[in-house]
Amino acid sequence: MTIQNNYETLNLEISDSIAYLTVTREKSLNALNSTMMTELKSVLTELLSVKGVSGMVFTGAGDKAFIAGADIKEMLDMTTEQAHIFGKLGQDVTLLFETVPFPVIACVNGFALGGGCEMAMACDFIYASETAVFGQPEVKLGLIPGFGGTQRLSRIIGRNRAKELMYTGRNMDAAEALETGLAVKLFQDKEQLIAAAVETIKKVGRVGPLAVSLAKKVMNSGNDLTVEEGLAHELDQFAAIFGSQDKKEGTQAFIEKRKPVFKGL
Ligand code: CAA
Repeated sequence: MTIQNNYETLNLEISDSIAYLTVTREKSLNALNSTMMTELKSVLTELLSVKGVSGMVFTGAGDKAFIAGADIKEMLDMTTEQAHIFGKLGQDVTLLFETVPFPVIACVNGFALGGGCEMAMACDFIYASETAVFGQPEVKLGLIPGFGGTQRLSRIIGRNRAKELMYTGRNMDAAEALETGLAVKLFQDKEQLIAAAVETIKKVGRVGPLAVSLAKKVMNSGNDLTVEEGLAHELDQFAAIFGSQDKKEGTQAFIEKRKPVFKGL
């Protein structure tokens, strides 16, 4: 399958089963305008049905910012109706990061503020550079987060920590992001950050792809269920995967003391 790649605000490359998605509005610190979000929506929608991708590295062009937020210049004269459309577009993108059938690692190289922090939180997990800066500074602009920040930040770092951060609009440095679980690992610079994400995706590429995508689906949907509902969902999917070739291959290979050859079937 050929994926379109003539985008104005982003770049997608797929190489050795790894997708590299980079937002490229470096002069505006990769701020999310409507064009970028429309393009992200389009590329992620295409990736929903692509086969053979083990995972995705998602990052921002340059060393200064991952994404410094929604585009404040575009929001300046927005009406309530326009803000609704803009917010919905951003939220759709976050849901797509959660739905693509492979892990997405947000590689946060610098500022991940407002909508940038929200995009990173919609990814499966965050690797960050030691100079990364996170925050939901919307209240400083007289706004609230609109791309999922009020919902996902609490789920990741806990409600009261999220409230303290959001009500003050203060920044969180990389060390605090690591301590609170917002970031799972820190790296010295962007090069090491990307290299580590690639290594992680290569490891994911060696296990059962069907199992990984199912684990992602069950874990993401479990957020909004009671434990009983979540367990019922897990049980259905656990049983369903017993009908796959990958499960047969993985268990057979263990018994035969050899490496499994997974086909994603
Ligand atoms: N929107 C539009 N443009 C932005 C931007 C944003 N969110 N963030 C940075 N830029 C632009 C700046 O306007 C500037 O452009 P010009 O050269 O044309 O003036 C360029 O990027 C470089 O930025 P700075 O000169 O400000 O760089 P700095 O190093 O001095 O500061 C910064 C960096 C602290 C990140 C600062 O740019 C900043 O505070 N940015 C805004 C952060 C923010 O408030 N984000 C939340 C937005 S609201 C939101 O995201 C709502 C939501 O949930 C949907």
